[in-house]
Amino acid sequence: MEKPHFSGFAKKFLKKHVSHHELAPDDSHGMLLYVEGVTKSFDGFKAINDLNLYIQEGELRCIIGPNGAGKSTMMDIITGKTKPDAGSAWFGQNINLLELDEPSIAQAGIGRKFQKPTVFENMTVDENLELAMSGPKTVWTTFKGGFTSEQIDMRDHVLELIGLKALRNKNGQVLSHGQKQWLELGMLLMQKPRLLLVDEPVTGMTRQEMDKTAELLLSLEGSHTIIVVEHDMDFVRSIARKVTVLHQGHVLAEGSMDQVQSNPEVVEVYLGTSQC
Ligand SMILES: Nc1ncnc2c1ncn2[C@@H]1O[C@H](COP(=O)(O)OP(=O)(O)OP(=O)(O)O)[C@@H](O)[C@H]1O
Ligand SMILES: [Mg+2]
Repeated sequence: MEKPHFSGFAKKFLKKHVSHHELAPDDSHGMLLYVEGVTKSFDGFKAINDLNLYIQEGELRCIIGPNGAGKSTMMDIITGKTKPDAGSAWFGQNINLLELDEPSIAQAGIGRKFQKPTVFENMTVDENLELAMSGPKTVWTTFKGGFTSEQIDMRDHVLELIGLKALRNKNGQVLSHGQKQWLELGMLLMQKPRLLLVDEPVTGMTRQEMDKTAELLLSLEGSHTIIVVEHDMDFVRSIARKVTVLHQGHVLAEGSMDQVQSNPEVVEVYLGTSQC
Protein backbone atom coordinates (compact mmCIF):
# COMPACT_ATOMS: atom_id res chain seq x y z
CA MET A 1 0.00 0.00 0.00
CA GLU A 2 1.26 3.46 -0.84
CA LYS A 3 2.17 5.65 2.12
CA PRO A 4 -0.24 8.60 2.59
CA HIS A 5 1.38 11.92 1.76
CA PHE A 6 0.64 14.92 3.97
CA SER A 7 1.48 18.49 3.10
CA GLY A 8 3.27 20.64 5.70
CA PHE A 9 -0.03 22.26 6.61
CA ALA A 10 -1.77 18.87 7.02
CA LYS A 11 1.06 17.64 9.25
CA LYS A 12 0.75 20.72 11.45
CA PHE A 13 -3.02 20.30 11.57
CA LEU A 14 -2.72 16.63 12.53
CA LYS A 15 -0.13 17.42 15.20
CA LYS A 16 -2.38 20.08 16.69
CA HIS A 17 -5.76 18.38 16.43
CA VAL A 18 -5.17 14.65 16.51
CA SER A 19 -4.49 13.28 19.96
CA HIS A 20 -1.16 11.66 20.82
CA HIS A 21 -3.12 8.47 21.24
CA GLU A 22 -3.77 8.34 17.52
CA LEU A 23 -0.24 9.40 16.64
CA ALA A 24 1.48 7.09 19.14
CA PRO A 25 3.76 4.59 17.44
CA ASP A 26 2.11 1.72 19.28
CA ASP A 27 -1.19 2.23 21.05
CA SER A 28 -1.65 -1.41 22.00
CA HIS A 29 0.90 -1.54 24.83
CA GLY A 30 -1.61 -0.89 27.60
CA MET A 31 1.14 0.06 30.04
CA LEU A 32 1.12 2.97 32.45
CA LEU A 33 4.79 3.61 31.74
CA TYR A 34 6.36 2.62 28.48
CA VAL A 35 10.07 3.33 28.00
CA GLU A 36 11.72 1.95 24.91
CA GLY A 37 15.16 2.18 23.32
CA VAL A 38 16.20 5.07 25.56
CA THR A 39 19.81 6.19 25.43
CA LYS A 40 21.54 9.03 27.25
CA SER A 41 25.23 9.92 27.08
CA PHE A 42 27.18 12.29 29.28
CA ASP A 43 30.38 13.40 27.55
CA GLY A 44 30.35 10.30 25.37
CA PHE A 45 29.65 7.93 28.27
CA LYS A 46 26.39 6.00 27.90
CA ALA A 47 24.73 6.29 31.32
CA ILE A 48 21.55 4.84 29.78
CA ASN A 49 21.95 2.44 26.90
CA ASP A 50 18.97 1.15 24.92
CA LEU A 51 16.80 0.93 28.02
CA ASN A 52 13.39 -0.76 27.86
CA LEU A 53 11.05 -0.55 30.82
CA TYR A 54 7.36 -1.43 30.87
CA ILE A 55 5.31 -0.80 34.00
CA GLN A 56 1.70 -1.86 34.38
CA GLU A 57 -0.93 0.11 36.27
CA GLY A 58 -0.98 -0.96 39.94
CA GLU A 59 2.48 -2.55 39.85
CA LEU A 60 5.04 -2.28 42.62
CA ARG A 61 8.31 -2.61 40.72
CA CYS A 62 11.73 -2.76 42.33
CA ILE A 63 14.77 -1.65 40.40
CA ILE A 64 18.20 -2.70 41.60
CA GLY A 65 21.68 -2.44 40.18
CA PRO A 66 25.18 -1.53 41.29
CA ASN A 67 26.34 2.07 41.80
CA GLY A 68 26.38 3.96 38.52
CA ALA A 69 23.99 1.52 36.79
CA GLY A 70 21.81 4.41 35.66
CA LYS A 71 18.92 4.08 38.12
CA SER A 72 18.70 7.73 39.10
CA THR A 73 19.31 8.87 35.52
CA MET A 74 16.41 6.65 34.48
CA MET A 75 14.20 8.45 37.02
CA ASP A 76 15.55 11.82 35.78
CA ILE A 77 14.41 10.88 32.28
CA ILE A 78 10.95 9.75 33.38
CA THR A 79 10.43 12.97 35.35
CA GLY A 80 11.78 15.24 32.62
CA LYS A 81 14.86 16.43 34.52
CA THR A 82 17.04 14.93 31.79
CA LYS A 83 16.12 14.51 28.14
CA PRO A 84 17.47 11.38 26.44
CA ASP A 85 19.38 11.37 23.14
CA ALA A 86 17.15 8.67 21.63
CA GLY A 87 14.18 6.44 22.38
CA SER A 88 10.61 6.93 23.52
CA ALA A 89 8.86 7.34 26.86
CA TRP A 90 5.07 7.33 27.15
CA PHE A 91 2.91 7.78 30.21
CA GLY A 92 -0.33 5.94 29.58
CA GLN A 93 -1.18 5.80 25.92
CA ASN A 94 -1.31 9.46 25.09
CA ILE A 95 1.30 11.38 27.06
CA ASN A 96 4.66 11.64 25.37
CA LEU A 97 7.01 12.34 28.28
CA LEU A 98 9.81 13.45 25.99
CA GLU A 99 7.73 16.41 24.82
CA LEU A 100 7.01 17.68 28.34
CA ASP A 101 9.06 19.67 30.81
CA GLU A 102 9.47 18.74 34.48
CA PRO A 103 6.48 20.69 35.90
CA SER A 104 4.15 19.37 33.19
CA ILE A 105 5.21 15.80 33.92
CA ALA A 106 4.54 16.31 37.63
CA GLN A 107 1.17 17.76 36.74
CA ALA A 108 0.43 14.80 34.49
CA GLY A 109 0.68 12.61 37.60
CA ILE A 110 4.25 11.43 38.10
CA GLY A 111 5.48 12.08 41.65
CA ARG A 112 9.06 11.60 42.79
CA LYS A 113 10.35 11.03 46.26
CA PHE A 114 13.99 11.98 46.66
CA GLN A 115 16.29 10.39 49.20
CA LYS A 116 16.41 13.33 51.58
CA PRO A 117 13.07 14.16 53.22
CA THR A 118 11.98 17.77 52.82
CA VAL A 119 9.11 18.21 55.24
CA PHE A 120 8.37 21.59 56.79
CA GLU A 121 9.89 21.40 60.27
CA ASN A 122 7.82 24.19 61.84
CA MET A 123 4.50 22.87 60.64
CA THR A 124 2.47 20.02 62.03
CA VAL A 125 2.06 16.69 60.28
CA ASP A 126 -1.50 17.67 59.36
CA GLU A 127 -0.37 21.04 58.02
CA ASN A 128 2.35 19.44 55.93
CA LEU A 129 -0.23 17.16 54.33
CA GLU A 130 -2.65 20.04 53.78
CA LEU A 131 0.04 22.13 52.17
CA ALA A 132 0.88 19.32 49.78
CA MET A 133 -2.79 19.07 48.89
CA SER A 134 -3.01 22.74 48.00
CA GLY A 135 0.33 22.79 46.15
CA PRO A 136 0.53 24.36 42.71
CA LYS A 137 0.85 21.04 40.91
CA THR A 138 -2.31 19.46 42.24
CA VAL A 139 -5.91 19.08 41.27
CA TRP A 140 -6.77 21.28 44.25
CA THR A 141 -5.17 24.33 42.65
CA THR A 142 -8.38 26.24 42.13
CA PHE A 143 -9.47 25.68 45.67
CA LYS A 144 -9.63 28.89 47.72
CA GLY A 145 -11.44 28.66 51.05
CA GLY A 146 -11.44 25.99 53.76
CA PHE A 147 -11.15 22.33 53.00
CA THR A 148 -13.95 20.28 51.55
CA SER A 149 -15.04 17.11 53.31
CA GLU A 150 -13.47 15.16 50.46
CA GLN A 151 -10.13 16.81 51.14
CA ILE A 152 -10.37 16.19 54.85
CA ASP A 153 -11.19 12.53 54.19
CA MET A 154 -8.22 12.32 51.86
CA ARG A 155 -5.88 13.82 54.46
CA ASP A 156 -7.15 11.46 57.15
CA HIS A 157 -6.86 8.48 54.84
CA VAL A 158 -3.23 9.35 54.02
CA LEU A 159 -2.50 9.99 57.70
CA GLU A 160 -3.72 6.47 58.41
CA LEU A 161 -1.71 4.98 55.55
CA ILE A 162 1.55 6.54 56.71
CA GLY A 163 0.90 5.59 60.32
CA LEU A 164 1.27 9.09 61.77
CA LYS A 165 -2.22 9.65 63.14
CA ALA A 166 -1.01 9.87 66.74
CA LEU A 167 1.51 12.53 65.73
CA ARG A 168 -0.77 14.61 63.55
CA ASN A 169 -0.46 17.73 65.72
CA LYS A 170 3.29 17.45 66.25
CA ASN A 171 5.73 19.63 64.35
CA GLY A 172 7.91 18.11 61.64
CA GLN A 173 11.04 18.77 63.65
CA VAL A 174 10.16 16.23 66.36
CA LEU A 175 9.75 13.38 63.87
CA SER A 176 12.36 10.66 63.48
CA HIS A 177 14.13 10.23 60.15
CA GLY A 178 11.79 7.36 59.24
CA GLN A 179 8.67 9.32 60.23
CA LYS A 180 9.82 12.24 58.07
CA GLN A 181 10.23 9.88 55.13
CA TRP A 182 6.69 8.55 55.62
CA LEU A 183 5.32 12.07 55.92
CA GLU A 184 6.98 13.01 52.67
CA LEU A 185 5.52 9.95 51.00
CA GLY A 186 2.16 11.04 52.38
CA MET A 187 2.67 14.53 50.96
CA LEU A 188 3.24 12.99 47.56
CA LEU A 189 0.14 10.81 47.94
CA MET A 190 -1.93 13.93 48.64
CA GLN A 191 -1.21 14.97 45.06
CA LYS A 192 -2.80 11.75 43.81
CA PRO A 193 0.03 10.71 41.52
CA ARG A 194 -0.68 7.97 38.99
CA LEU A 195 2.95 6.91 39.19
CA LEU A 196 5.22 7.25 42.19
CA LEU A 197 9.01 7.05 41.86
CA VAL A 198 10.84 6.36 45.09
CA ASP A 199 14.66 6.57 45.16
CA GLU A 200 16.38 4.69 48.01
CA PRO A 201 13.61 5.10 50.61
CA VAL A 202 15.23 3.20 53.48
CA THR A 203 18.71 4.72 53.56
CA GLY A 204 19.46 5.67 57.18
CA MET A 205 16.44 3.86 58.59
CA THR A 206 16.44 1.41 61.47
CA ARG A 207 15.38 -2.17 60.71
CA GLN A 208 12.04 -1.48 62.39
CA GLU A 209 11.49 1.60 60.25
CA MET A 210 12.40 -0.42 57.15
CA ASP A 211 9.75 -3.01 58.03
CA LYS A 212 7.16 -0.27 58.41
CA THR A 213 8.18 1.26 55.10
CA ALA A 214 7.79 -2.15 53.44
CA GLU A 215 4.32 -2.44 54.95
CA LEU A 216 3.42 1.03 53.71
CA LEU A 217 4.59 0.42 50.15
CA LEU A 218 2.84 -2.95 50.03
CA SER A 219 -0.38 -1.33 51.22
CA LEU A 220 -0.21 1.03 48.23
CA GLU A 221 0.21 -1.77 45.73
CA GLY A 222 -2.75 -2.10 43.38
CA SER A 223 -4.23 1.30 44.14
CA HIS A 224 -0.98 3.02 43.13
CA THR A 225 1.78 2.32 40.63
CA ILE A 226 5.18 2.55 42.25
CA ILE A 227 8.79 2.18 41.13
CA VAL A 228 11.22 1.70 44.00
CA VAL A 229 14.97 1.95 43.54
CA GLU A 230 16.83 0.49 46.50
CA HIS A 231 20.22 -1.02 47.39
CA ASP A 232 19.20 -2.79 50.58
CA MET A 233 18.54 -6.33 49.38
CA ASP A 234 16.75 -7.48 52.54
CA PHE A 235 14.34 -4.62 52.09
CA VAL A 236 13.88 -5.31 48.38
CA ARG A 237 13.20 -8.97 49.13
CA SER A 238 10.53 -7.95 51.65
CA ILE A 239 8.52 -6.03 49.04
CA ALA A 240 9.65 -7.64 45.79
CA ARG A 241 7.19 -8.64 43.12
CA LYS A 242 8.85 -8.15 39.76
CA VAL A 243 12.47 -6.98 40.02
CA THR A 244 14.46 -5.28 37.27
CA VAL A 245 18.25 -5.34 37.39
CA LEU A 246 19.98 -2.44 35.68
CA HIS A 247 23.61 -2.61 34.64
CA GLN A 248 25.47 -0.08 32.51
CA GLY A 249 22.22 1.67 31.67
CA HIS A 250 20.57 -1.48 30.31
CA VAL A 251 18.19 -4.11 31.71
CA LEU A 252 20.34 -7.09 32.62
CA ALA A 253 17.61 -9.28 34.09
CA GLU A 254 13.97 -9.13 35.13
CA GLY A 255 11.85 -11.51 37.20
CA SER A 256 11.16 -12.56 40.76
CA MET A 257 13.78 -11.86 43.42
CA ASP A 258 14.82 -15.53 43.38
CA GLN A 259 15.09 -15.54 39.62
CA VAL A 260 17.28 -12.46 39.40
CA GLN A 261 19.46 -13.41 42.37
CA SER A 262 20.21 -16.80 40.85
CA ASN A 263 20.90 -15.35 37.41
CA PRO A 264 24.64 -15.94 36.72
CA GLU A 265 25.02 -12.59 34.92
CA VAL A 266 23.52 -10.75 37.89
CA VAL A 267 25.77 -12.64 40.30
CA GLU A 268 28.77 -11.74 38.12
CA VAL A 269 27.86 -8.04 38.12
CA TYR A 270 27.45 -7.96 41.90
CA LEU A 271 30.50 -10.13 42.56
CA GLY A 272 32.92 -8.31 44.78
CA THR A 273 30.24 -5.98 46.10
CA SER A 274 28.17 -6.62 49.18
CA GLN A 275 24.99 -5.33 47.58
CA CYS A 276 23.29 -8.55 46.48
N1 LIG B 1 24.70 14.96 34.96
C1 LIG B 1 25.62 14.03 34.75
N2 LIG B 1 26.80 14.34 34.15
C2 LIG B 1 27.74 13.41 33.93
N3 LIG B 1 27.62 12.11 34.28
C3 LIG B 1 26.48 11.73 34.89
C4 LIG B 1 25.42 12.66 35.16
N4 LIG B 1 24.41 12.00 35.78
C5 LIG B 1 24.81 10.72 35.88
N5 LIG B 1 26.04 10.56 35.36
C6 LIG B 1 26.80 9.32 35.26
O1 LIG B 1 25.92 8.32 34.77
C7 LIG B 1 26.14 7.08 35.42
C8 LIG B 1 24.85 6.60 36.03
O2 LIG B 1 24.59 7.37 37.20
P1 LIG B 1 23.28 7.20 38.09
O3 LIG B 1 23.37 8.25 39.14
O4 LIG B 1 22.09 7.19 37.23
O5 LIG B 1 23.52 5.76 38.71
P2 LIG B 1 22.72 5.03 39.88
O6 LIG B 1 22.38 3.66 39.36
O7 LIG B 1 21.61 5.87 40.36
O8 LIG B 1 23.85 4.88 40.99
P3 LIG B 1 23.72 4.86 42.60
O9 LIG B 1 23.28 3.49 42.95
O10 LIG B 1 25.10 5.14 43.05
O11 LIG B 1 22.74 5.93 43.01
C9 LIG B 1 27.27 7.29 36.42
O12 LIG B 1 28.48 6.88 35.83
C10 LIG B 1 27.24 8.79 36.63
O13 LIG B 1 28.52 9.27 36.96
MG1 LIG C 1 21.16 6.78 42.22
